Amino acid sequence: MTSTRVMFFCLGNICRSPLAEGLFCHHLETHRLEHLFHVESSGTSAYHVGDPPDLGSQRVTLKHLKLDISHQRAQQLTAHHLDEFDVVVAMDESNRSNALRLRPNANIILLRDFDVESPGDDVPDPYGGGANQFEVVYEMVYRCTAKLLDDLLKNGKLQ
Ligand code: 4NP
Repeated sequence: MTSTRVMFFCLGNICRSPLAEGLFCHHLETHRLEHLFHVESSGTSAYHVGDPPDLGSQRVTLKHLKLDISHQRAQQLTAHHLDEFDVVVAMDESNRSNALRLRPNANIILLRDFDVESPGDDVPDPYGGGANQFEVVYEMVYRCTAKLLDDLLKNGKLQ
């Protein structure tokens, strides 16, 4: 069976999308489903290529789940990624429009399309912010990645 390839992306790939990658993988592990998915994250910019996640993101997953995401390294989103991944998930609308410049017909969903509390909103950018901002983003990304996985398991690959 081939794995479903999931790409989360934001602007820098150091704050929001590393959280999404880490938390989606956490949900997969909880359900013992790691073997069915290949998960990566990226940024539309090259600002932080090669960098580990921001300390704000590292700290919030350690605090809540004892989950260490420090091994992740930022990469830039490419047109090839958009061709090759089955599910491509933007953190905000401006990320999505940047990515559509690479592949105008790409099927890109927003993470908060899976937010029962406020569907379709942006995941706010916590870069340069305090621990509180990373907390808010953590809660949002946690619940949205859980719902994304539920929907993928129910419906197969998203349309
Ligand atoms: P991210 O946050 O897109 O969630 O990783 C940002 C990280 C870096 C920058 C902007 C946003 N930056 O301008 O360097």
